[in-house]
Amino acid sequence: MHGLHTNKIAALFPPPEFLSMPSAGIDISDTSIKYLDAQYTSKGLIPRVFDSVSLKEGVVVDGVVRDTDALSAALKELYAQNDRRFANVSLPEELVYLYTLEIPTVHGDKEIMQVIEFSLSEHAPIPAENAMYNYDIIRRRGEITEISVTVFPKDVVKGYLEAFQKSGFQVKVFELEARSLARSVTSTAVEGVSMIIDFGRTRTGITIALGQIPIFSTTVKIGGDAFTESIVKHHKVSDADADTIKLQQGIVECTPEALCQDLITTTQALVKEIQRHYRYWNTRKDEEGNNIAPIERIFLCGGAVGVKGLPEHVSDVLHVPVEIGNVWENMFSLDEHIPHVSRVDSWRYATAAGLLLRDVL
Ligand SMILES: Nc1ncnc2c1ncn2[C@@H]1O[C@H](COP(=O)(O)OP(=O)(O)OP(=O)(O)O)[C@@H](O)[C@H]1O
Ligand SMILES: [Mg+2]
Repeated sequence: MHGLHTNKIAALFPPPEFLSMPSAGIDISDTSIKYLDAQYTSKGLIPRVFDSVSLKEGVVVDGVVRDTDALSAALKELYAQNDRRFANVSLPEELVYLYTLEIPTVHGDKEIMQVIEFSLSEHAPIPAENAMYNYDIIRRRGEITEISVTVFPKDVVKGYLEAFQKSGFQVKVFELEARSLARSVTSTAVEGVSMIIDFGRTRTGITIALGQIPIFSTTVKIGGDAFTESIVKHHKVSDADADTIKLQQGIVECTPEALCQDLITTTQALVKEIQRHYRYWNTRKDEEGNNIAPIERIFLCGGAVGVKGLPEHVSDVLHVPVEIGNVWENMFSLDEHIPHVSRVDSWRYATAAGLLLRDVL
């Protein structure tokens, strides 16, 4: 059992001899848990098991674990059904404080953690003793190192840790969901600034990343379910049929007109938020008044990307080409392997894929 005597997220986890054992990627949202595991082969890291269990309302609320026993029971089910013991787990964007720092180039992890500790009060409005933090190095420029810091309230992490401790799984690492996503949907060759949009069930995650490191992340409380609700209301169909209608008609071929109006209203509200962040980012200046590197590309993922016409709408409004992220890009080549999973599911498992990649990239 690992206590929470430390403030370093990575320090909670097992010693190095365990790190070579393959882990599962586990992505927990308010409505479900997604589980993915993979095998190392000559073709790359090939996904093996896609699994998920749904969560009842109230178990995880806005990213906070409210019912540890229920979450634990759901995890136990996944543990029993599969044969992985270790898990890399994502933490929700809703609760993170994410910021960048320029620090003098120092080499030890300990020194960097110390610098971060001093920066906490300025960037994370929570008591220092309730802060758990970690960092990624964005780049080193001679004397200066740029890092991206993620801070989570300790009690939030504790909620997840407790649920896992009773489930059978041993958590190897917790990381910010946006970090996992950026690792799967952006190519390791990408160096500039990207925006990654994750269209989920109840929310849409918006992340700005430098290379594969998130430097900003936020969520908008609109997701695929808003489309489902409108379709169900107008057509009196099941949620599954509404999903099919999303893919086949979406916002471009919808009928009747009243439904189309509803879907477009939802889309506009969502895209307006994306545009707000896009503009804000692209007009930022540094301390000397120079423009900061603009967003070069936009990657889309998440189950609701399949809403017909949605990607095009984002692209039209922002006047930027958008790409539907290839979730498997850094795992294997689609010329060599086709995963046994629908396109929609591959977009849904982007975070879990990034969690698996953490062990290899
Ligand atoms: N088979 C399907 N066909 C079409 N659309 C689907 C299908 N399955 C899921 N979706 C869409 O994907 C959405 C769920 O996406 P995703 O699984 O990425 O969300 P989530 O991660 O569970 O939730 P969140 O990220 O909001 O916490 C649904 O609202 C629906 O629009
Ligand atoms: Mg999600």
